[in-house]
Amino acid sequence: MEARITGVGSYTPERRVTNDELAQTLDTSDEWIRSHTGIRARHIAAPNEAASDLGAIASARALEASGVGPGEIDLILLATSTPDYQGLPSTASVVQDRLGCENAGAMDLVAACTGFVYGLETAHAYTRAGLARHVLVVGAEVYSRIVDWSDRSTCILFGDGAGACVVSAAEGEGRGIVDSVLKSRGSDAESLYRPRGGTRSPLPAGERADRDTYLKMDGRRVYVFAVSVLVDIIRRLLERNNLSIDEVDYIVPHQANMRIIEAAAKRADIPLEKFYTNLQEYANTSAASIPIALDEMNRAELLHPGSTVLTIGFGAGLAYGGNLIRW
Ligand code: UT7
Repeated sequence: MEARITGVGSYTPERRVTNDELAQTLDTSDEWIRSHTGIRARHIAAPNEAASDLGAIASARALEASGVGPGEIDLILLATSTPDYQGLPSTASVVQDRLGCENAGAMDLVAACTGFVYGLETAHAYTRAGLARHVLVVGAEVYSRIVDWSDRSTCILFGDGAGACVVSAAEGEGRGIVDSVLKSRGSDAESLYRPRGGTRSPLPAGERADRDTYLKMDGRRVYVFAVSVLVDIIRRLLERNNLSIDEVDYIVPHQANMRIIEAAAKRADIPLEKFYTNLQEYANTSAASIPIALDEMNRAELLHPGSTVLTIGFGAGLAYGGNLIRW
């Protein structure tokens, strides 16, 4: 039994915020942001849009593309670090209701920017084991609500968006999720985290949210980690599957920073053209970045049945990993 991607969809909010617009209220510039990250713009959710709103639209598009009805979905896996509610209920349950997936189980998956990679592998396991016929895997994020808009070293990096795939059990054409590597370096957890607001350091009633309730990052440390694990995961997936890089059509890395991707390409001696990027337009949308890219590539007809794709995620956790997909 294969775990084939039968439909993909995405949604990014209408409001597009350029670097120049950020520079009106922040001590930064288009030149700095472009030269240090490659980012030119990001899309920001409207005040009434939460993660489930973005995720439901992306999911409805993926369902339509797959031809699978909402009632046929057995399981919804929604990867997010910016849920509608703190911990409960899951954002997946909100999306399940919105889409009318009355036969589906629903759960959130927290692996930050690697969430979608973890979600695809979980869907792979369920479908291969015969426990589900159709799994909806969603990445939906509203980082604009958890970044510190006065911290120029982090807020310029992120954007909002959602992407989704339907993973269906199918018989033997050699297509689908072939192999995955899932990893975590928890010892570096505090290099990208929200120090306050969880059970480790709760925010007592009456106390105002301070900067420690927002995302905090040791950018340099995460940068070094990201470059090394991007190279490591590509090598592992190639080696384990006896593939040469020439047999891979596209690498779809988590869309964090162009400089990370360029450095990894150089270190692994892989032409930069193999890496699909769209961070220029959307910035880092965390768990949503890979499915948004897959949807864009699919619509641009870059992906064909049998195309070989590597998706590589890395971020808070520090979690990282990748999927080898035969499209
Ligand atoms: O999903 C994973 C998410 N995380 C990431 O992708 C982050 C990985 N890290 C990075 O991408 C990079 O470390 C950053 C883009 C965050 C920072 O780039 P950098 O080249 O490492 O800059 P830096 O932190 O070393 O800062 C260099 C200078 C500093 O000024 P001084 O101290 O040299 O005077 C910063 O204050 O750049 C300054 N700076 C800025 N200047 C203008 C930092 N952010 C900005 C900004 N605009 N937005």
